[in-house]
Amino acid sequence: MSALRLDGKVAIITGAAGGIGEATARLFVGNGAYVVVADVQDELGDQVVASIGPERCSYKHCDVTDEKQVEETVAYTLEKYGTLDIVYSNAGILGSLTGILDLDMKSLEKTIDVNVCGGLAMIKHAGRAMVARNIRGSIICTVSAGATRAGLGPVGYTASKHALLGVVRSASFELGMYGIRVNAVSPFGVGTPMTCVIPGITRFRLDPEFIEEQMSSVSNLKNMHLKAKDIAETALFLASEESSCITGHNLVVDGGFPDSSSTFPVSVPRYTVELIRWSIRKVTISSILSTFVPSYIYSLFGQTMDE
Ligand SMILES: NC(=O)c1ccc[n+]([C@@H]2O[C@H](COP(=O)([O-])OP(=O)(O)OC[C@H]3O[C@@H](n4cnc5c(N)ncnc54)[C@H](O)[C@@H]3O)[C@@H](O)[C@H]2O)c1
Repeated sequence: MSALRLDGKVAIITGAAGGIGEATARLFVGNGAYVVVADVQDELGDQVVASIGPERCSYKHCDVTDEKQVEETVAYTLEKYGTLDIVYSNAGILGSLTGILDLDMKSLEKTIDVNVCGGLAMIKHAGRAMVARNIRGSIICTVSAGATRAGLGPVGYTASKHALLGVVRSASFELGMYGIRVNAVSPFGVGTPMTCVIPGITRFRLDPEFIEEQMSSVSNLKNMHLKAKDIAETALFLASEESSCITGHNLVVDGGFPDSSSTFPVSVPRYTVELIRWSIRKVTISSILSTFVPSYIYSLFGQTMDE
């Protein structure tokens, strides 16, 4: 077997301008694939392609809520790279953070539109292209640990991910007869632009390390620090021949998160307290001194301002 697990394969990854999608694009290319980075954040998408290397990947604007754009992205990939072996439907939004009592139905529609209909459109058009060309492809969706449990995310998000898991299972059933596999990867909390938001505050972002610590503290697997790369590795497994007999599966990557725990809706006050504690631990005596003590006095103690 080639050391490159996706040698010469062609993949589309949606939501690949950042977070889990970006990490997966890097890993897929590192394993010999050609990747179409599809997203709505054009500037970030172009930067991802430039940093990975445009000889093996390219950017395509694709709003997954617009079926025409999804179809065009599949057509673009086929024209540019000649085939389509893998689709990683990963684009998603957290949506409104409110609980059910304050749920705004319009915002729920948007969440469902991106997380469910977007995934569905992607599977539909990728499936059509694969069936027409007799390609025994692999389709993967980023679902969520919240797709099978309550209390891990806001109600709209939880509902959308439960539905998306239904789409994955149903599609795997239908497309199995063509040799096409459809699987889900379900992360728990990973420090990405999505999870680093602070409710009601747009200017500041949580540190991904803080998210990792919070998740680590509630998972069974001690000292687990779940990163986007870990989800990318799981997607790589599901995309590669190593999982050739696996379909309709929901591979949860959560460090053995115990069923009794929840992070939502209690997460906001608890996170605030935890964030303060975490920030205090991060502020070292050295950094306090470097802020308040003039450098010449500080240097008397044998330290520089950069330490
Ligand atoms: N980070 C986590 O802890 C976590 C946990 C469970 C599931 N997930 C899922 O993982 C996936 C990736 O999320 P992430 O954590 O990397 O967050 P992220 O915000 O970094 O990435 C999501 C990407 O999707 C893109 N996107 C949003 N709407 C889109 C649309 N209409 N069309 C195309 N692209 C669109 C965004 O521009 C962004 O680049 C999502 O589906 C999310 O629900 C994440």
